Amino acid sequence: MRFAGKTVVIVGAGSGLGAAITEGFSLEGARLVLIDRDKTALERQAIRFAGSGIICGDAAESATVEQTLDISGPVDILIHTAGIDPLSATDVPGTSLEDWQSIISVNLTSAFLFARGVLPAMIARQSGCLLFTGSIAGLKPTPREAAYAVSKAGVIQLARAIALDHARQGIRANVLCPGFLESVMLDRKRVMSESDLSKRSQAAAAIVPLAREGRYEEMSALALALCDDSVSGYITGQPIVADGGLMLA
Ligand SMILES: NC(=O)c1ccc[n+]([C@@H]2O[C@H](COP(=O)([O-])OP(=O)(O)OC[C@H]3O[C@@H](n4cnc5c(N)ncnc54)[C@H](O)[C@@H]3O)[C@@H](O)[C@H]2O)c1
Repeated sequence: MRFAGKTVVIVGAGSGLGAAITEGFSLEGARLVLIDRDKTALERQAIRFAGSGIICGDAAESATVEQTLDISGPVDILIHTAGIDPLSATDVPGTSLEDWQSIISVNLTSAFLFARGVLPAMIARQSGCLLFTGSIAGLKPTPREAAYAVSKAGVIQLARAIALDHARQGIRANVLCPGFLESVMLDRKRVMSESDLSKRSQAAAAIVPLAREGRYEEMSALALALCDDSVSGYITGQPIVADGGLMLA
């Protein structure tokens, strides 16, 4: 039970990567507080991970952070995985101000708000770990995803800034940067057919040197390792790329 007695806040815990990380921490004995805006997905998690704190709300709103801290108390580990990438956002001329603002707000501002919320108690206790979710798009822009790439680059700099400012207070901050994962994000999935999804998997297999998409389960295992001081206690301020070699191709 690597995380027994630890309070872990997971933002975006309702599906995909956040759900897999929730399962990982639950199996390792953590006390969980789960946040998502998707009520149905959260209700499913509340049944599965009975005893966890549950907050349904927009992670980009300060009120959601306040509600979280009210039930979590001091947080040992913050995991931020909430993210969006609307299909309507593309290159810069093709991105509406509304899409730009919502992507920056969910992917970056909410990471800042949660970090700002949990850090004072971490500083007081001289201990804490933050793990954000970036993407290889934050290191090397992918075509026609300008707002998304900027938001993920921002998350990487946010983690680096926190790592630098708070290392002497016993706090580490890193970013998990996946390539293609086994499922597209929910906002894309809702508009993609089974055949589109299968074509995406085939395309990933063709492009990725390891010839497949990443599994949520393996990302979760990596996330736990990055939060485990006995494994990663000397790693801070780093984007950790898990992309099957895609950035080499
Ligand atoms: N799926 C991929 O191929 C991929 C690749 C690289 C990076 N990522 C990143 O990994 C993270 C998780 O992606 P995923 O595949 O699990 O996607 P997902 O859509 O399955 O999960 C994201 C979760 O965040 C929640 N969420 C979105 N906006 C929110 C908001 N404003 N407030 C609260 N909750 C909100 C959603 O309801 C959902 O449960 C994202 O940050 C994404 O950018 C995903």
